[in-house]
Amino acid sequence: MASELTIRKPDDWHVHFRDGAVMRAVLSGTTEHFGRALVMPNLVPPVVTMNDAIAYRERIEANLPKGSEFTPMMTLYLTEATDADDVERAYKSGVITAVKLYPAGATTNSDSGVTDVARVAPVLERMAEIGLPLCVHGEVTDPSIDIFDREAVFIDTVLDPMRQRTPGLRVIMEHVTTEDGVKYVQSQSEHLAATITTHHLMINRNHLFQGGIRPHFFCLPIAKREHHRLALRAAAVSGDGRFFLGTDSAPHVDGAKESACGCAGVYNSPNTLSCLAQVFEEEGALDKLEAFASLNGAAYYGVAPSDQTITLKRQNAAVSYQAKVKTEEGDITVFDPPCDLNWLVV
Ligand code: NCD
Ligand code: ZN
Repeated sequence: MASELTIRKPDDWHVHFRDGAVMRAVLSGTTEHFGRALVMPNLVPPVVTMNDAIAYRERIEANLPKGSEFTPMMTLYLTEATDADDVERAYKSGVITAVKLYPAGATTNSDSGVTDVARVAPVLERMAEIGLPLCVHGEVTDPSIDIFDREAVFIDTVLDPMRQRTPGLRVIMEHVTTEDGVKYVQSQSEHLAATITTHHLMINRNHLFQGGIRPHFFCLPIAKREHHRLALRAAAVSGDGRFFLGTDSAPHVDGAKESACGCAGVYNSPNTLSCLAQVFEEEGALDKLEAFASLNGAAYYGVAPSDQTITLKRQNAAVSYQAKVKTEEGDITVFDPPCDLNWLVV
């Protein structure tokens, strides 16, 4: 069995850094292992304009750990008032890498999102014209649709019609959680990719209720049945360039998670690479980890892979990792997967 693995430095194509004290506390969890990350714009208020993105990037850069060689790649939060000219300027001047579509009300801080994609059609058409990718939170928000079906229904009723109406639009289905999502991506010949999170490769919906309710496994889209998890694993280890890592690391302080109405989001940046190595080893596919974590996403976004490397070493005993990150606003619990981890970034 391999005991050491060196891969190009990974990128995280979906991360939540938040702002202020939480941002300052979580940045190093990403910068230690990743060369770049696509930073989600769902702050309160959201990152909507080019100037918002510049200001947010400056706050991130000002707080990067000393000596870290890390590039935050910025996104804009698509609203029904988004100005296509501002989006184009932001892209052409190199400020943003993608635009994020949140259906209004689908997840944390998505109230300013889109109620009907027809209302953002002019922006989507402009994006298709200039080649700017759209990251999509792929869930319908209709409360009458079962929460475990919201991704599949979104594909049929929103995503596919939107893509057909906007030929050439480059789309990333963020944090795909279902076999339906995987199959949809595989069935398309171009302009569609998907990110997969660390935790959706490791937990299914049973884990949410194992021995009691587990708020730190609650995220959106919610973890699904086991066969969906297995489909995600198969896609991740396949080497197929359309699937790549977006951790969806989404820190919330414990008080907000362990509550009568707990927030959605799993904080997994610090131990994601240990988790992924475990998953890829279990799948007999350690040789595909680099494609998933370091190559496929860069290729889809049209940037060169990192010229740096990281090395993981297999330990005989389970590795321990920090359980909580302290912030001025409270502790944040790190993802604790339901299996031992043996791999450590050295
Ligand atoms: C994210 C967050 O907390 O910002 N939560 C989550 O459960 N994934 C939002 C998101 O990506 O849906
Ligand atoms: Zn997210």
